[in-house]
Amino acid sequence: MTKSYITSPIYYVNDIPHIGHAYTTIVCDMLKKYRQIRGQEVFLLTGTDEHGQKIEQSAKAHNQSPQAYADSISAHFRTLWEEFGIDFDYFIRTTDSAHCQSAQAAFKKMFQKGDIYKGMYEGWYCISCESHFTKHQVVEQKCPDCGKITTTIKEESYFFALSKYQDALLQWYEQCPDVIAPRHKRNEVIRFVESGLVDLSITRTGFSWGVPLPEGIENADNEGSEGAPKHILYVWLDALMSYLSAIGYEGALRMDLWQDTTHIVGKDILRFHAVYWPAFLMSLELPLPRKIYAHGWWTRDGVKMSKSIGNVVNPKEVAQSYGIEAFRYFLLREVPFGQDGDFSQRALIERINSDLSNDIGNLLNRLIGMAQKYFDCKLSSTQIEQFYPQEVAKIAPILERFESAMSDMQPHTALEELWGLLRLGNGAISTYEPWKMMKQAQSEQTLALLMLVGNVLLKTALCLYPIMPKTAIAIAAALGSSIDTQSFSRYVSQNALLQFATLTPTAPLFPRIESPLMPEPSLDSKDSKESSAPKAHTSAPTSPQTSTPKAQNTQSSSESNSTPELVELVGIEDFKKLDLRVGVVLECERVPKSEKLLRFLIDLGESKPRQILSGIAKYYEPSELVGRQVCVVANLKPAKLMGLVSEGMILSAHDDEGLSLLSVPKKAGSKIS
Ligand code: MSP
Repeated sequence: MTKSYITSPIYYVNDIPHIGHAYTTIVCDMLKKYRQIRGQEVFLLTGTDEHGQKIEQSAKAHNQSPQAYADSISAHFRTLWEEFGIDFDYFIRTTDSAHCQSAQAAFKKMFQKGDIYKGMYEGWYCISCESHFTKHQVVEQKCPDCGKITTTIKEESYFFALSKYQDALLQWYEQCPDVIAPRHKRNEVIRFVESGLVDLSITRTGFSWGVPLPEGIENADNEGSEGAPKHILYVWLDALMSYLSAIGYEGALRMDLWQDTTHIVGKDILRFHAVYWPAFLMSLELPLPRKIYAHGWWTRDGVKMSKSIGNVVNPKEVAQSYGIEAFRYFLLREVPFGQDGDFSQRALIERINSDLSNDIGNLLNRLIGMAQKYFDCKLSSTQIEQFYPQEVAKIAPILERFESAMSDMQPHTALEELWGLLRLGNGAISTYEPWKMMKQAQSEQTLALLMLVGNVLLKTALCLYPIMPKTAIAIAAALGSSIDTQSFSRYVSQNALLQFATLTPTAPLFPRIESPLMPEPSLDSKDSKESSAPKAHTSAPTSPQTSTPKAQNTQSSSESNSTPELVELVGIEDFKKLDLRVGVVLECERVPKSEKLLRFLIDLGESKPRQILSGIAKYYEPSELVGRQVCVVANLKPAKLMGLVSEGMILSAHDDEGLSLLSVPKKAGSKIS
């Protein structure tokens, strides 16, 4: 039996799963089920990526230790995949000790091979992508991949001699032209490598949340002594190694699976999988992946998803509202694999009502209804082809096209083809009108027609299994059949016709949906939150009353008397204009030539952090503020101080003893009201 290995990316534990994570994992599960039904042994890996600066910062922002934080988010992922029926064989966590040992062993091997050397890294780093960039790649300090502000780092580092593998990589792409799919993504990878590879920094110092270097290395380099920087593995080397450690790298548990490995990844992390990873594998003298599939990104209602906008699609909520089967169908049908897709409830409902309720659900209902009415649910015919030769002739080419699209990892095309089969079944009923045939005592023709429809549904169910497993099983069960390798081989690969069936009435598969089942995200203050430049004050209409705050005082005199030193009162409408948010300090430093000012980079849960200047330098050391939650006026007009733009204000309280920043233990971007 052929064996293969499929990996999903291992997900960062900085936040709970969103639709993008669900999509990748569902694609992996679909591929596993497709291979399995065709008789292959498949091992599916998923898991969580738990080390690195991003996770350390998120944990800090939540006032938790990185391990406790990782434990809780990792459990969210695992539970969700279990609830979704994802058939993973192993769930790896990069904090597992066996994984850490494997990652160290790999580092040691590459080191002993002479592929790792010590140097000094000086350049740009995007904490969100956990990725290094050169001067030429970074424009206005922004990460070329995600657009967030990068930090500059200068630290001692071990480097992997990536440049040494440039030619070997290019040769590999040429010799195995189908490894990276889709094709246009492969071309991008080739152009990237051709433009020249620089050696890769593969250790970090300056923070400690990661896998320490293997003992022998530090000794070999006289490190580990008092004061010497402590290196931890670069999180991407650590994470990629999970693909090997999960199947027992150096423990030889299931390394036989490595011969046929498929990685499924989002387009944003293709470089790591198609350039760095194969180079590491070459260094480790291991076979390279067979396939690397890169998929596109999901937006919601045409808008990029972001926590600050509040429009992130929660896959759990979608599955609870519409059912995991419909959700899977939508994700796999709506967008050509490799391209970006858009999620909207409207599109999902349309797919459910038209494709699932009408085309499949109704066909099964009609078949069961007629079988019950005319033949007591027992159908049998050896004359299907004889009575309906044209329809039968169309089945084989549809199945072939379905198979070819699935092998090309184009489930949306495969489903389009399969719906051709359903149209054939629905069309045959409309064309031949079995109720009329029964009136004319043509029961043999009717039986053959109903068996034709039964075959359409059984073949559809077998093909549909990887995409909607529970629906497939339910349809097959209603037809008195089952979903298994033998049936797939018989009724799909060999296209045999089922000649007998005893039907079991079932509840309608997909009841129609009349209106959205989930609340829509409210995007009312979208503009002010979406862009980093706050706008609310300038764009808000100002009425005469709001510009003279006293005019709207509606409080009773006793209330106003009890308000100490209040010079002017503001109405709630004025207060509501303030966009107060919780921010997490990512960076903080003194502004040169200023005694008062500190320059902050603050995560407000937006696509990129804000730069904010605050005159509190005499109260705080910059380093003690990194990782701290602060309260920010997020819609203050930008102002320039000492030549630097400040995009907001940090709130503090002041008394005789000094100044304290306000702090709230909530996530970055949380609204304060
Ligand atoms: N931890 C790394 C992967 C290491 S694999 C050795 C990572 N994690 S991630 O959680 O940020 O992303 C995991 C996957 O989710 C990526 O494949 C990414 O492309 C995908 N998605 C994240 N947001 C997405 C959308 N909005 N839409 C579709 N997929 C996206 O990267």
